[in-house]
Amino acid sequence: MPTPAQLRKLKAAAKTASARAYAPYSKFHVGAAVLTGSGKIFAGCNVENASYGLCNCAERTAIFSAVAAKERKLQCVVVYTPTKTATAPCGACRQVINEFGPAARVISFCASTDTIDTTIAALLPAAFGPANLA
Ligand code: THU
Repeated sequence: MPTPAQLRKLKAAAKTASARAYAPYSKFHVGAAVLTGSGKIFAGCNVENASYGLCNCAERTAIFSAVAAKERKLQCVVVYTPTKTATAPCGACRQVINEFGPAARVISFCASTDTIDTTIAALLPAAFGPANLA
């Protein structure tokens, strides 16, 4: 779905965001960038807290920024970690991606050539979503 140029921008935004992670506890720096329905890009990093349960993942930071800008459709989510293997979104983030982008593509990349290129439908089969409450 994203054009090659959009994908390049998404990857650059995710990488820049990972450098802004506030992760003093896990030291696991994550950056994410989302492409919205109108073609805008929003980025986010993970933001941890001394009260560990309040940690927010990079994906949700990016998605919540998009929603706060009234961008409620996700075409693509890109995740970057400065690790050897690519990191797929956690379960909570999969649920949030599904809420705004049930057809979204999800791409994870990292410091090596390892990548994950999939869809939220594959990552969260038989999802519970807005239609269940209609
Ligand atoms: N984390 C993310 O930001 N995204 C993921 O997809 C996996 C986990 C964060 C949460 C926490 O700050 C740290 O990585 C370790 O779990």
